[in-house]
Amino acid sequence: MGICLATTSGKGGTGKSTVSCGLALVFSKLNKSVLLVDMDEGLRCLDLLLGIDSNVVFDLSDILNGAPILDGTYTLPQNSNISVIPAPHQLGAIDPDALADFAKRAKLMYDIVIFDFPAGLDFSLYTAIGDDAQFLTVCNPDPVSVRDAAAVCASLPQTKNDARLIINRFDAEYIKKKIYSNIDDIIDVSGFRLLGLVPQSTELMLLSINHNINKKSRAFKALYRIAERLLGNEVRLPKIKKI
Ligand SMILES: Nc1ncnc2c1ncn2[C@@H]1O[C@H](COP(=O)(O)OP(=O)(O)OP(=O)(O)O)[C@@H](O)[C@H]1O
Ligand SMILES: [Mg+2]
Repeated sequence: MGICLATTSGKGGTGKSTVSCGLALVFSKLNKSVLLVDMDEGLRCLDLLLGIDSNVVFDLSDILNGAPILDGTYTLPQNSNISVIPAPHQLGAIDPDALADFAKRAKLMYDIVIFDFPAGLDFSLYTAIGDDAQFLTVCNPDPVSVRDAAAVCASLPQTKNDARLIINRFDAEYIKKKIYSNIDDIIDVSGFRLLGLVPQSTELMLLSINHNINKKSRAFKALYRIAERLLGNEVRLPKIKKI
């Protein structure tokens, strides 16, 4: 059965979708088949980030209403290891029972299934994707984002309390200048265990144009470390300046 991941955040725009795509790209390079499921009803974005938006006809709601999984699944032309299921256009189109059934089947078809959830404190669909789902709370180093991550930590369903933290848009200079808290303080305030850091990166900002990440970039290397940890391998944090 495949590994199931799910992104979450309190504050919007912390980089959940970017990190989801980045992890998918890294896993694909490790020869894993990856299914990305866009859970942001009405505000889909993974199709655009990965360049398949003009092909989209069906979405997650069609699958949940009985269409075969592959009918609403779009494989990247440039990378057959990555497939995307776009989010429904309408709010309220995701039925928890249908989602639970879909999640079970998807995990049998792919090595990695990533559910990219919207921001906020509505956790009503979290349990439907299964108790094995590893939740990843993505926060930025700014105080509002960190406090909102703490709000997520305080109210996640009990079965999800092994959720881990990804600090995205990390910039050592900002910590040095004391604009942002240091990493230990961010971890303490958030209440989560750290999984990894992703740097502020032009490469990631350009994802919707390039639909790929240069393997030599710091962003790719950071996401690679996170992916390896998710696969159960121990990878040490490099020196802060090198992240
Ligand atoms: N590490 C990064 N470096 C630079 N820009 C980033 C990074 N991560 C994300 N961004 C930018 O931040 C913005 C928000 O990213 P993204 O859409 O992935 O966030 P999100 O958490 O999925 O948002 P939402 O809450 O709306 O779903 C985008 O413009 C993206 O390019
Ligand atoms: Mg998003």
